[in-house]
Amino acid sequence: MGCYPGRCEVVPGHAGRLVFGYLRDKCCVMMQGRFHPYEGYPLWKVTFPVRVFRLMDVHTLIVTNAAGGLNPEYKVGDVMLIRDHINLAGLSGQNPLRGPNDDRFGERFPPMSNAYDRILRQKAHHIWKQMEQERPLQEGTYVMVGGPNFETIAECQFLQKLGADAVGMSTVPEVIVARHCGIRVFGFSLITNKSILDYESLETANHEEVLVAGNLAAEKLERLVCTLVENMQPPSEKTF
Ligand code: HPA
Repeated sequence: MGCYPGRCEVVPGHAGRLVFGYLRDKCCVMMQGRFHPYEGYPLWKVTFPVRVFRLMDVHTLIVTNAAGGLNPEYKVGDVMLIRDHINLAGLSGQNPLRGPNDDRFGERFPPMSNAYDRILRQKAHHIWKQMEQERPLQEGTYVMVGGPNFETIAECQFLQKLGADAVGMSTVPEVIVARHCGIRVFGFSLITNKSILDYESLETANHEEVLVAGNLAAEKLERLVCTLVENMQPPSEKTF
């Protein structure tokens, strides 16, 4: 994929590969890593793979991310199904759909109130129950910030007051572009660290704890995704 000459960056933990194959008999393409706006990529490049997937007739996008837990109930290692998102930068105009609309992909003003498929979320809860995990499967609102620095305490307090349960630096642009072109979306966040909301706290967020939490959760996330994909049918309503 394109990158600026001499400035190509891959975040540690993001391999930067597209992997094609079968997951329990279902034909899949996986992004081993993604582009982030904080690496310097414009939003149209960040979301370019999603349009490629659309042209390949992909009908469902599963988005995953690491996130800081803003909701006080959340613990490190929890999985949060994304029910909704707050596109913080988008509210002030930084949207991947900004510019002339490409009608071949979708309409100028796509709805976003139904971005995360309700039925797939229900199925995920069902699978989670069968997995007999100690912790509940959380469900909440993801807010995207630009990064790359982790948030200040005041910013975390602000994001929590906005109604966000988890904060991260990705996902929202891809979801917007997927929904614009009629791809069904299911997503979850792995809570890799607790957001610091208290001035008495001596903790600080760091990328190493994000990687450690990711590795520890890999097996349960693999089970969740594989079982979901195994039982997945194409959407009944053909949107493209
Ligand atoms: N903030 C933003 N992005 C993140 C965090 C966080 O606390 N944890 C993992 N990705």
